[in-house]
Amino acid sequence: MLMNLETQRLILRNLRENDLADFLEYRSDPEVCEFQSYEPFSEAEAERYIKNLENGEFGEAGKWIQLGIELKAENKLIGDIGLKPEGHETRIVEFGISLSRNYQKRGFAAEALTEVFDLLFGKVGIHRITATVDASNFGCIRMLENMKFRREAEFIKSFWQSGMWRDEYLYAILEEEWKSK
Ligand SMILES: CC(C)(COP(=O)(O)OP(=O)(O)OC[C@H]1O[C@@H](n2cnc3c(N)ncnc32)[C@H](O)[C@@H]1OP(=O)(O)O)[C@@H](O)C(=O)NCCC(=O)NCCS
Repeated sequence: MLMNLETQRLILRNLRENDLADFLEYRSDPEVCEFQSYEPFSEAEAERYIKNLENGEFGEAGKWIQLGIELKAENKLIGDIGLKPEGHETRIVEFGISLSRNYQKRGFAAEALTEVFDLLFGKVGIHRITATVDASNFGCIRMLENMKFRREAEFIKSFWQSGMWRDEYLYAILEEEWKSK
């Protein structure tokens, strides 16, 4: 399924070749990448990454897509949302999100994710959405808890990042919980 969504301030759509400079602005920023599973991107890596995902459609078991977050007022890509139906059960979806530093703390993450989750739970028949977050990523933990995700598990020294083992939390929300919010 190709996703094209619009909110009051944002357009959510596949990444495009001409997003490269905006994409690099946040995906090469060590602060944005600090808690992520990816390292800061080089220009060549970013170019390849966007090309691979350009025509990506949501729905295949175990396959990530990336939805670009475009700020309408500036015609600018300010972040992206990764979505992956689980390999063993496509009604369970894992997500991740990155926002450019200058566009954080303005409610864009919540605005974009609310639109995506309304679609996944409301029309696509998704049962459960999960996110794994570094236990020190307070911005992301706050965002998840604001959206009423539940902390379900804590993994100790489960993730190698920036030269050390880190702890992680698993967060989740069910369709019925999202709809009754
Ligand atoms: C995680 C991340 C996406 C959260 O972004 P964010 O912009 O802080 O999240 P939100 O959209 O929920 O913004 C909410 C904050 O903006 C504030 N805000 C300002 N204007 C707002 C508006 N118009 N509407 C809603 N909130 C607004 C809210 O009060 C809230 O602040 P608070 O938590 O102090 O109350 C961002 O920190 C990020 O990209 N981090 C780096 C990458 C990363 O670690 N990703 C997580 C991996 S899963």
